[in-house]
Amino acid sequence: MKKTFLLFLCMLAANTAFTQLKLQNLTTENLKNPIGIDAEKPRFAWQLISDKKNVKQTAYEIQVKNGKKVVWSSGKVNTSNSVFNAYQGEKLPSNTRFTWQVRVWDNQGQTSEWASANFQTALNKGDWKAKWISSGFANDTVNGVVPMFRKSFETKKKIVNATAFVTARGLYEIQVNGKRVGDAFLTPGWTSYNKHLQYQAYDVTNLITSGKNAIATTLGSGWYRTRLAWLHQQNIYGKETALLFQLELTYSDGSKESIVSDNSWKVAESDIRFAEIYDGEVIDARKRIANWASTTFNDTDWKNAVEKNFPSDYLNASVNEPIKKHETFKPVKVFKATNGKTILDFGQNLVGWVSLSAQGKAEDKITLSHFEMMDKFGNPYFDNLRSAKAQATYILSGNGKDFFEPHFTFFGFRFVQVDGASGNINPEDFTAYALYSDMEQTGNFETSNALVNQLQKNIQWGQKGNFLDVPTDCPQRDERLGWTGDAEVFSRTASYNFNANQFFAKWLKDVTADQFPNGAVPHVIPNVLNDGPTQAAGWGDAGIIIPYNVYVAFGDKQVLENQYETMKKSVEYIHKAAKNDLWNTGFQFADWLSYRVDDSKGMIGMKSAITDNYLVAQCFYAYNVQLIINAAKVLGKTDDVQTYEKLLVSVKKQFQNEYMTASGRLISETQTAYVLALQFDMLPESLRQQAVERLVENIKSYNYHLTTGFLGTPFLNPVLSRFGRNDVAYKLLLQDTYPSWLYPIKAHGATTIWERWDSMKPDSTFQDPGMTSFNHYAYGAVGDWMYRNIAGIDTKEFDGAGYKEIVIKPQIGGGLTYAKGSLKTNYGVVASAWKIENGKLTWEVEIPANTTATLTFPTQKLSSITESGTKQSVASDGTMALGSGKYTFVMDL
Ligand code: BGC
Repeated sequence: MKKTFLLFLCMLAANTAFTQLKLQNLTTENLKNPIGIDAEKPRFAWQLISDKKNVKQTAYEIQVKNGKKVVWSSGKVNTSNSVFNAYQGEKLPSNTRFTWQVRVWDNQGQTSEWASANFQTALNKGDWKAKWISSGFANDTVNGVVPMFRKSFETKKKIVNATAFVTARGLYEIQVNGKRVGDAFLTPGWTSYNKHLQYQAYDVTNLITSGKNAIATTLGSGWYRTRLAWLHQQNIYGKETALLFQLELTYSDGSKESIVSDNSWKVAESDIRFAEIYDGEVIDARKRIANWASTTFNDTDWKNAVEKNFPSDYLNASVNEPIKKHETFKPVKVFKATNGKTILDFGQNLVGWVSLSAQGKAEDKITLSHFEMMDKFGNPYFDNLRSAKAQATYILSGNGKDFFEPHFTFFGFRFVQVDGASGNINPEDFTAYALYSDMEQTGNFETSNALVNQLQKNIQWGQKGNFLDVPTDCPQRDERLGWTGDAEVFSRTASYNFNANQFFAKWLKDVTADQFPNGAVPHVIPNVLNDGPTQAAGWGDAGIIIPYNVYVAFGDKQVLENQYETMKKSVEYIHKAAKNDLWNTGFQFADWLSYRVDDSKGMIGMKSAITDNYLVAQCFYAYNVQLIINAAKVLGKTDDVQTYEKLLVSVKKQFQNEYMTASGRLISETQTAYVLALQFDMLPESLRQQAVERLVENIKSYNYHLTTGFLGTPFLNPVLSRFGRNDVAYKLLLQDTYPSWLYPIKAHGATTIWERWDSMKPDSTFQDPGMTSFNHYAYGAVGDWMYRNIAGIDTKEFDGAGYKEIVIKPQIGGGLTYAKGSLKTNYGVVASAWKIENGKLTWEVEIPANTTATLTFPTQKLSSITESGTKQSVASDGTMALGSGKYTFVMDL
């Protein structure tokens, strides 16, 4: 007995010693242990970790199990693919939990142990039995009260699984037996509600008890019927909100039961007297009904809910991460404004809301008015909110401490004006919560320059504030829409900072849903504007550019496949709108918000930088066609490759005929014109170098200031770096007077990216309040260049997309003494950190298992390069191919 035990121990020890290959971060459809997956063939991914270098997967085996029963086994598949491996078994049944396990073999002779994860399928369309229910209250309107619903039921048997499927025409919150279900907010999020609606699935097994149970929900207007856009359009998707709820119970004896929404549900008015996206929320604690969500509550005098005949065939399970609470903030300062108002400063421009604990007399009313900036006279600045009231109003119960927090609204703010609070303000009573889609934060970037680090933070906060289920332009004024242009220019940067794969995959479905029949993609998605059907360069083109960027950043071919028809229709729209392949028709936003002389008194004498609208459009036409060619190559659509390659030649030729002189001068002598022409290879090769020189001369003429707008900015520094003028790119990055990236930080302590280069001018007055946001991420598109060129982390495209084949090429400059970047990719962490000390450069690089990297060394002195003390042989072009592992290189500069 003893001997066998010893033997077992020895085997165990031996096994651990040899098992150096492990698997981690298993995902299904890019999510960890998701429930409510309605993909027919869910895609599995895992990461390899090993102490060894140069590790590559050579084979994998996946098994999918329902309980103990294996429902599908892939067998041993010889491939290095460790991401997006699709299930290939029989059709998966509705609402069923599966575990899946995987093991892999590598090129070092190692085999991993099995690693496992699980997923649960969604409800099949035919399995919805629930009825839509509404309150039926006359005052349940867009400006009216929020209703609450209850359903009591009893279970008699032991429960093994309880899953709730919920959605709303509106926004819902839900409790089971008095406990909040899940930690998501503003559910079901925002989609093109008239085309499709997402529902969420929650595991409530631990909340349901054997015996009495109560389901309780509140139902707000949300994007469904709140006014949207500046035209005061209400009830865009419908006048009446409604709830759809289905609880699927599985008992220990294998039997099943469903609890569904229907007219047996009870309804009453809640304490939320008003809730609206732009204007905020009013909560009246006097109207609170104690224990209304508990099993013991008697709801006999509540009204019955009204069943509605709304469709349920347009429901899809959520594919993206829900909105959750993230960072919390306490006021860093409480002070009186010049006008005597009490102001809280949370120190960070953020998006979310403020909770409050307060005590006072019944009827006391405390109003929190949210805003972004103090004006130069020391007063709160509300004008840029336009008609959005952005207020939370809390009415006290008079019975001890009341706790308040909004439910169906959100605010973009750094400051809060407090009205109606009696006595001294205790900062401890206020907590600000940042709300945003729960994407994994994947990128980190830091340098020796504090202002650049703040810029990086501001870019990330711009993303947090504007990635609330939909990529929006701004989060504070009466707008907050899915502006396509903003999302398009920021999409690469966004995909460094966060894993935005599912976030974009979800939004792109709405791009398809809202595409006009003529192929044009609207200016905002979900489309709530009454214009079109036209597509503007750089805006609707998001329908082509973002799927491709998602493919490059995450290697997700399915997004390209799903979007390909939409992409093609969109480019065909341009093809038709163009005359002889010259896109010079229709409305264009062009290089939106580029530098204009009148913008600021700070720089009198500099000329406005206005680029011809159609010159810009032609460059984007070429860009779009190029991306269709790339996508067609990835998807093996060879006919399309040929067709569009021909078209591309013609589009570029037309550009040259129309906008370029024989010597290569462009009709618009602006940075944007040269940047776009160079970025998209619009010029004959022989004329590119002179164009770079013209670009640099132009930048110099503005004394090293940028003048680009939304469409030129993302490519400004990449073009300079690509054409050997990294020195100028760094000068622009480090410029700290207007117009520049660092000006808002240096002059005004900005904590987010602004809509305009001078949203607050050098003299501390504001730009036109009609369009002056302090949280607009578009100019933050420089983040992409910072990761790619300063830290040097990039991916190859095509087969190497999604960091399967990594490119690491840092460009030293700008007087920085160190820079470090890291990125959590689908394979694991890629990192690049360089540091200059005593004339030597130390460069630490990390390459995850199952990838390869091509490094370009940031020195001319290639013979000086060592790694762990050993001389390295580097190709004469300064490159080296490497496998996975951690490396520390030292070199002379
Ligand atoms: C938005 C933008 C958007 C633009 C289009 C503005 O109101 O805030 O960021 O792209 O309109 O012109």
